Amino acid sequence: MTNSASTPSRYYLTTPIYYVNARPHLGHAYSTIVCDAIARRKRARGIDTWFLTGTDEHGQKIERSAELAGRTPEEFATAISGEFRSLWKQLGITNDDFIRTTEERHKRGTQKFFATLRDKGFIYKGSYSGQYCVSDELYVDGPVGTLCPDCGRETETVSEENYFFKLSAFEHKLLEFYDANPDFMGPESTRREVVSFVRGGLKDLSVSRTSFSWGIPVPGDEKHVIYVWLDALVNYITALGYGSDDPADQARFAKFWPADMHLIGKEISRFHCVYWPAFLMAAGLPLPRSVRANGWLLFDQGKMSKSRGNIVRAETVQQVLGADALRYFLLREIPFGQDGNFSFDALVQRFNGDLANGYGNLVSRVVNMVHKYFGGVVQEPLPGETEDETITEEAAKAIVAFDECFERLDFSRALETLWTLVAAVDGYLTASAPWKQGVGVTDEVQQQHRARVLYVAAEAIRIITALVYPILPESAAKVWQQLGQGEIADAAKQAFLTHLAWGGLKAGTKFGEPSPLFPRVEKDVVEQMQKIEEQNTKTVVEAAASSAAKAVSATKSETATSAPAARTAVKGAIVSENSEKQASAEDVPVDSVGAEPVDEAKGYETLARVAKKSAVAATPVPAVPAAAQTLAPPPVVEEPKYISIDDVIKVDLRVAQIVVAERIPKADKLLRLEVDLGYEKRQILAGIAQYYEPEKLVGRKIVVVVNLAPRKMRGLMSNGMLLAASLEGGSPVLAGFLEDVPLGARLK
Ligand code: MSP
Repeated sequence: MTNSASTPSRYYLTTPIYYVNARPHLGHAYSTIVCDAIARRKRARGIDTWFLTGTDEHGQKIERSAELAGRTPEEFATAISGEFRSLWKQLGITNDDFIRTTEERHKRGTQKFFATLRDKGFIYKGSYSGQYCVSDELYVDGPVGTLCPDCGRETETVSEENYFFKLSAFEHKLLEFYDANPDFMGPESTRREVVSFVRGGLKDLSVSRTSFSWGIPVPGDEKHVIYVWLDALVNYITALGYGSDDPADQARFAKFWPADMHLIGKEISRFHCVYWPAFLMAAGLPLPRSVRANGWLLFDQGKMSKSRGNIVRAETVQQVLGADALRYFLLREIPFGQDGNFSFDALVQRFNGDLANGYGNLVSRVVNMVHKYFGGVVQEPLPGETEDETITEEAAKAIVAFDECFERLDFSRALETLWTLVAAVDGYLTASAPWKQGVGVTDEVQQQHRARVLYVAAEAIRIITALVYPILPESAAKVWQQLGQGEIADAAKQAFLTHLAWGGLKAGTKFGEPSPLFPRVEKDVVEQMQKIEEQNTKTVVEAAASSAAKAVSATKSETATSAPAARTAVKGAIVSENSEKQASAEDVPVDSVGAEPVDEAKGYETLARVAKKSAVAATPVPAVPAAAQTLAPPPVVEEPKYISIDDVIKVDLRVAQIVVAERIPKADKLLRLEVDLGYEKRQILAGIAQYYEPEKLVGRKIVVVVNLAPRKMRGLMSNGMLLAASLEGGSPVLAGFLEDVPLGARLK
């Protein structure tokens, strides 16, 4: 049960498994890229590495998201899980396995784990009455009305029979364990937070639910489903083979468990540093060797997340600047463990400064000169001249410093150190000027000088490239070829990072053809990326319009309007695509799968008008001029006199509470609202700034159209629409309630 010392011959690391309630964005990519860089480096040091990622697919949050999208949880989860998987492919992520918690191997292992805890006397039946945050899938202490301490959302009251895990029995054991294993969790802020949480006292934890069914049944008592966090955490062992009878699975589990590192986002440290070790102690299994928390990627001043509507997709950066540029930016710009800002400007600055003008330019200068002066063949410098004191020393320092920094996950400093070497070699080239014919110097002596300088520079580049390979794998592979070293992937398999030292470049090596690595980009790529993001949003709206229109015509052509037809319309108010026309989804993404590509020839306005028409047909209530509403000019079509009940239920109206209301700089009419729907928080831009003081709106319960396609305005996403009485020539009056109503309740 101890956190034994790391076995250097094998390494197991994991990302969190991602919820499938929303499409992947840069925040998810960040955690995965960090793990990928670590995994690549371990392998290149000859360590047998297993890198796991996957998707977390059960629980109330997913069940509700699926319902909102009019899909089954299975369909919903499959669609989003597929998006994660294909993004990792696109980004060249080298995970060895991808687990879905809906897979049979996981269900079997989770049930075995639960049964083991119960058999060992750590699980008992009781009943829970208290608060629950669906968004974080977290039990929260406190009376009705308590907000979730993690996300600030309103909690729901849960009263049900549950199985409980005796977490309280582990309070002292955990504290002892943390003491004995000071490196178990990090950074320091995480450690402090976790220790103080445990010192504050641990209560037994409810580990099953009965009020919904989307989960893994408790073995022997199937009306309970296993608490989604227990289910999720166990993925780290079920993916290896825990619970399987197959000898190959058992061998993998024996070989790779315990994990060397669980890399997580800082918001989920309690689950990984308190609950998970306690579960494992109870089951009699070894504990992971370390848990490391990354900080948050921020965009527009807030954590990048679906609910804030401030996400940027990794694909956008990858399409314009390449995956390596994204990897470099994230690892260089953000000191690991801290929050860091993402901005397109900073990305382009790093790209041009460090990659195009720095490393890329250095490689290009040297490879081109070896071709120009020596027909592409590295020369044997005179004896004793394969080194240059300064550069050789700098390189030796860089190897050591890079290793040390990388080992403690200080990627930013590791790269900074390496780029000191890039600059030193650049300066050395400029000072040695191998392209200049010295006055009174014979051709032979001049060539000897060139041979020496170019050997030294090329050898330094080889070392830089080897070190940076885990972070810039695609570019390093190109440089490796240009340096005549063959396939870098083969070198990695042969553990080329194990003994990296000066002198590995052999004289007589024939260089490959030079090819540009990071062609300098102009400022307009920022706009280009912003456009792709906007286009994505806009196309979402268009696709929604198109589907809505189709749904309406389908409904009309059917003699009897059926529930499935109505659902198609709701589906339509959802997702589709980006500039590449791949299936993708923003908020309610299931429909991206199989969603029809937008017919660009039809044009935005036409589609929007059709949408407007269907919206008019479907919306029996007047609405405020909220952001998401203003799709197009007024309808030019005849409006039907009556609508059917199916039309009414297309519009998903829910009770929400305003938790944040603020003015938007330079926008007189718009307010930025954050509304809490109980099951999630959303940002909505509403055109009510002239009628309502933002401060007075906070706390108000209102009515929101939740299945309206999201829309970006003034760089902010608006994800829904408020309802208000719209008075001729007067101020709008927000719809509200006289009685108390729970958040998220549907208006029917
Ligand atoms: N499903 C749980 C984890 C279960 S692990 C047994 C979960 N999923 S999540 O999709 O909400 O978030 C997973 C992880 O994504 C975070 O822990 C973090 O690693 C990463 N990130 C999501 N948004 C992020 C940022 N804006 N910034 C940095 N990382 C982010 O929690």
